Amino acid sequence: RPCSRVFSGIQPTGVPHLGNYLGALENWVALQNQHPSVLYSIVDLHSITQPQDPTRLRSNVMDMAASLLACGVDPERAVLFQQSQVSEHAELSWILGCLTSMPRLRHLPQWKMKSKLKNEGSVGLYTYPVLQAADILLYKSTHVPVGEDQVQHLELAQDLARIFNNRYGDLFPEPRALLSSTQKVKSLRDPSAKMSKSDPQTMATITITDSADDIALKIRRAVTDFTSEVTFDPQTRPGVSNLVTIHAAVAQITVEAAVQQARGLDTGGYKKLVSDAVVQRLTPIGQELQRLRSDPAHLQEVLLQGTRRARELAAPVLREVQQRVGF
Ligand code: ADP
Ligand code: NA
Repeated sequence: RPCSRVFSGIQPTGVPHLGNYLGALENWVALQNQHPSVLYSIVDLHSITQPQDPTRLRSNVMDMAASLLACGVDPERAVLFQQSQVSEHAELSWILGCLTSMPRLRHLPQWKMKSKLKNEGSVGLYTYPVLQAADILLYKSTHVPVGEDQVQHLELAQDLARIFNNRYGDLFPEPRALLSSTQKVKSLRDPSAKMSKSDPQTMATITITDSADDIALKIRRAVTDFTSEVTFDPQTRPGVSNLVTIHAAVAQITVEAAVQQARGLDTGGYKKLVSDAVVQRLTPIGQELQRLRSDPAHLQEVLLQGTRRARELAAPVLREVQQRVGF
C-alpha cells in the first residue's frame, strides 16, 4: 500500500494493561512493518480535558513513551511523538471546530457518558473529538487503528474531511478504520466488564510491568464458574472464556487451539498454563520497560526526534489548509 499512512494516538495514562497491549499496542507494532508511513502520538492535549496533575502528566508521558518502545514500537519505522509539542494539532483543531456543528458533538456517546459522570464537562472535553479529527487529518492519514468505542469519533473525522474538501477543494483523504480483530480482554474480577485502567480493583487488571508472581496470583484469583472443564462460550461462561481469549492472544494461537491445549485440565490447571503463557509474553516487555525508564535522556531524545519528524509532515499540510481558508 504505497500511499497509505497510519495514525493512532494513546493518552498518557500510566503503564498499559494487558487489554491495551493485546487490543491496541500489539497491532501498532504489526502495522509499522506493514505500512510505509506510520505515526504514533502520545496525546497529552487530550489528557487535560479532565482534571490532571502537571507532575503526573509529565511522568506519564515518559512512562508511555517507554511502554510503547518496550512493546516494540520502533522509532525507525514509526514516528513516535508527543502531541502537544506539535502545535499544528491545536491550530488545525480550531479550524475544523469552525466546521463542526454543536449538535454533531452533543450526540457522541463519550461526551454523554463522561460529562454525566462529572456532572459537567469542559469545552475541551466537549470538542475533543474535533481534536482527534485534527490529529488524523493533519497527516492526511488513510488508516486509523481504533477500538470499537472510537468508531463514532472516526466518523466525525471522515465527515470533517468531506466537509473541508467540499468547501475548500480536495485535500484530505477519508481515513478508514482498522478495527482490532482481538476479542476484548475482560476484567479478571468481573468478566462482564472490560479490563480497564480505571478499575479500582488491582486484582482485576494485569499491567505490562506486573511480576511473574503478580500475574500468577491475579490469574489464580480470576473469577470462573463451577464447571471444571475448559470451554469457550463468552455468553454463558465469561470468566473461563476470558482466560481462553487471553491465552490465545498471548500465545498467538487460535481460540480452538487454546481450548485444545486445555484438554484434560480443570480450570485450576488451566489457570497455571495461562499465567505461564502471559508471563512468557510480558516478562521481556517488563524488563525492557525498566531498562528504558532508567535512561530518561534517551527517551527524551527519541521523543524529540519523533516530534521533529511529525512537525516536518504537519507544517506543510497546515500551511495548505490556512491558505485555502484565507489566512
Ligand atoms: P482504558 O479502558 O483502560 O481506559 P483506553 O480507553 O485508553 O483504555 O484504550 C486504549 C486502547 O486500548 C484503545 O485502542 C482500546 O480499544 C484498547 N483497549 C482498552 N481496554 C481494552 C480491553 N480490555 N481489551 C482490548 N482492548 C482494549
Ligand atoms: Na477509556
